[in-house]
Amino acid sequence: MTFDFKVADLSLAEAGRHQIRLAEHEMPGLMSLRAEFGPSQPLKGARIAGSLHMTVQTAVLIETLTALGAEIRWASCNIFSTQDEAAAAVVVGNGTPENPQGVPVFAWKGETLDEYWWTAEQILTWPGADSNPELGPNMILDDGGDATLLLHKGVEFEAAGAVPEASDDDPEEYALILGVLRASLAKDPQKWTRIAAGIRGVSEETTTGVHRLYQLAEQGKLLFPAINVNDSVTKSKFDNKYGIRHSLPDGINRATDVLMGGKVAVVCGYGDVGKGAAEALRGQGARVIVTEIDPICALQAAMDGYQVARLDTVLEQGDIFITTTGNKDVIMAEDMVRMKNKAIVGNIGHFDNEIDMAGLAKVEGVTKVEIKPQVHEWVFDAGTGTERSIIVLSEGRLLNLGNATGHPSFVMSNSFANQTIAQIELWTKRDQPEGEREYENQVYVLPKILDEKVARLHLDALGVELTELSKEQAEYLDLDVAGPYKPEHYRY
Ligand code: NAI
Repeated sequence: MTFDFKVADLSLAEAGRHQIRLAEHEMPGLMSLRAEFGPSQPLKGARIAGSLHMTVQTAVLIETLTALGAEIRWASCNIFSTQDEAAAAVVVGNGTPENPQGVPVFAWKGETLDEYWWTAEQILTWPGADSNPELGPNMILDDGGDATLLLHKGVEFEAAGAVPEASDDDPEEYALILGVLRASLAKDPQKWTRIAAGIRGVSEETTTGVHRLYQLAEQGKLLFPAINVNDSVTKSKFDNKYGIRHSLPDGINRATDVLMGGKVAVVCGYGDVGKGAAEALRGQGARVIVTEIDPICALQAAMDGYQVARLDTVLEQGDIFITTTGNKDVIMAEDMVRMKNKAIVGNIGHFDNEIDMAGLAKVEGVTKVEIKPQVHEWVFDAGTGTERSIIVLSEGRLLNLGNATGHPSFVMSNSFANQTIAQIELWTKRDQPEGEREYENQVYVLPKILDEKVARLHLDALGVELTELSKEQAEYLDLDVAGPYKPEHYRY
């Protein structure tokens, strides 16, 4: 079998396979879905374009989806997050580095942004699909929404017959997307419209991507049904919190090896990710200060025992600054200039616009020293006698995936079990007759009973003994003995 792919080095496949084997042991959710659905092949015929950090855990997801019958092309959703050995192992599959037989992956650690958008185009561009749309992708699995965005923008500009120029207000990266679309429009003016017509649904992993989907749906522009995987309870209340609690200190340690105990850590944002971040830093003995714009989350942080302050008031106190907001312009260049000498600045929200990296590069007299890949010292006032510097992790991109290996397998088993179930839902219910459709071009969360199922799949591995409702108790609470156990509005 020959197929196109682009990864760093196929000779890493064996190392990757060992890690995948160990990860499978820690991913009971995915492995039991393989056992349950492998025989019935519910994803047969699904051709999934996947855009999600190409890690060891994602390798187990990819191989679960193929075990359920899907065909796949995969890219990472971040330029620094690929684990090259995992990417190699997925490509090699049951073959050898000389004769790979796995899945086409387009991902390597340290892509340029140009390369990143090339990989995004590759997962949506299936061999032979330009002449036969039946061969193109029919499902998307997205993280952060870049694949979905590229496709929607492509359709929009093909309808307009032209791709506009980026304006000064657009993020720098937007010009690259426009470049990809301009080139494709010149070659094949219906490419994205044709691909979009074949897509039966998208499942989206993260808060930021979900936000984009709801915006598209509100504007009536969403081209296919979407499942918001992030807001499964077993995703956002686990991955975003407990995953971060593990992978944030992992990233800081691997990047800097600075003792966190006794330091002042400032966490911007106290949503799910912020809660995990603050808890992890406190667990290491740091004194944590939280910033928030939402009075409810600010009050929660205060009641959890954190000082809540404005960034401006604590800039000179912090030793470590972590952004977790999913918002833009949270730490600006003028803030970084005021920080203590050797303060560490990192972001764990989805995009790199939380920290003003463009502004930092423009500070007068600033120089950038590479300590090692994804760890940079930005030196202010070099040679003036008042020289100071700050350490920026992963150039302002997700530091847990740039400086470390992201969340551990067990928590990702929860997130990816939701992804797998979402793909099965959208794919198996794609042809319901008009009027009976469960999924229109809107954004849905999975039914609570499936959310509970995902949790259930992880209990045995932890030795959890779940108490069973008696029939009488179930009647008293007006519940079914088998669940769901909470109303939709319950917040956990
Ligand atoms: P969330 O919406 O629960 O929390 C974000 C919080 O930031 C909110 O409470 C909001 O009020 C606050 N906020 C917004 N602007 C702010 C500002 N200027 N200053 C201070 N606080 C501000 O979202 P969640 O789930 O915590 O996700 C946050 C980001 O992390 C998203 O971009 C998400 O995609 C990403 N994410 C990253 C992961 C990783 O592995 N690195 C894992 C999961 C999510």
